[in-house]
Amino acid sequence: MAAASRYNVDGDEADVSKNKLGITDPKELGDAETVLLTDAYDYFLELLDKGKLNLKLDLIFELHEYFLGMLYSWAGKVRTVNISKGNMLFMPPNQIKKVLKDFESEFKKNCPRPDDSKKEIVRKIAYLYCELNVIHPFREGNGRTIRLFMDLFLASCGYEGLDFRKISEVEYIAACKKGTLKDYKPMEKIVFGLLNKKTELE
Ligand SMILES: Nc1ncnc2c1ncn2[C@@H]1O[C@H](COP(=O)(O)OP(=O)(O)OP(=O)(O)O)[C@@H](O)[C@H]1O
Ligand SMILES: [Mg+2]
Repeated sequence: MAAASRYNVDGDEADVSKNKLGITDPKELGDAETVLLTDAYDYFLELLDKGKLNLKLDLIFELHEYFLGMLYSWAGKVRTVNISKGNMLFMPPNQIKKVLKDFESEFKKNCPRPDDSKKEIVRKIAYLYCELNVIHPFREGNGRTIRLFMDLFLASCGYEGLDFRKISEVEYIAACKKGTLKDYKPMEKIVFGLLNKKTELE
């Protein structure tokens, strides 16, 4: 959802509901984002299928731009405002680029690979999700973009995307909070429970 009230924001990107299409109804805006996200899944999964997708760290900017570029000027760009949720203050905007650069080698070490065991894939996905969430590169849409990224990794390893609707928001946010403290176990438990191999027919 894109409701500005979900954030405590300072700076001048406060009105996240302001969009290029001039949509003012929050439900309509949420629906538009859902359609765009589905399209982003189709587009990137097809590229992956054709062997035309490089799952590098910078891909996160392309994913976000493709997902929300039609709606928001800040899509695909590092945010310029501070963002907090609960008592979590995500990475200050002026540090995001450097932190992402510094994260590059850890990212490469933790990219899921097709010959990894299921346990290893679970560990890597939970770790990457939590660390990218702490960075929270974008003004809005971080969760959906990082989940899309993780789902692309999973597809590249022969797994279905994770359906987070099957778990409660309370459990999910609790795992995100633990992840900010480098305790990845609760997120691993969630990922393990949601993980399914792609079936032969697909
Ligand atoms: N208290 C918290 N501590 C740590 N991380 C949090 C907290 N609350 C939310 N998050 C993380 O922030 C994400 C939401 O960020 P954002 O609103 O930018 O993404 P979204 O795609 O719009 O939302 P959603 O993930 O709910 O679909 C959540 O998915 C979760 O990973
Ligand atoms: Mg949001």
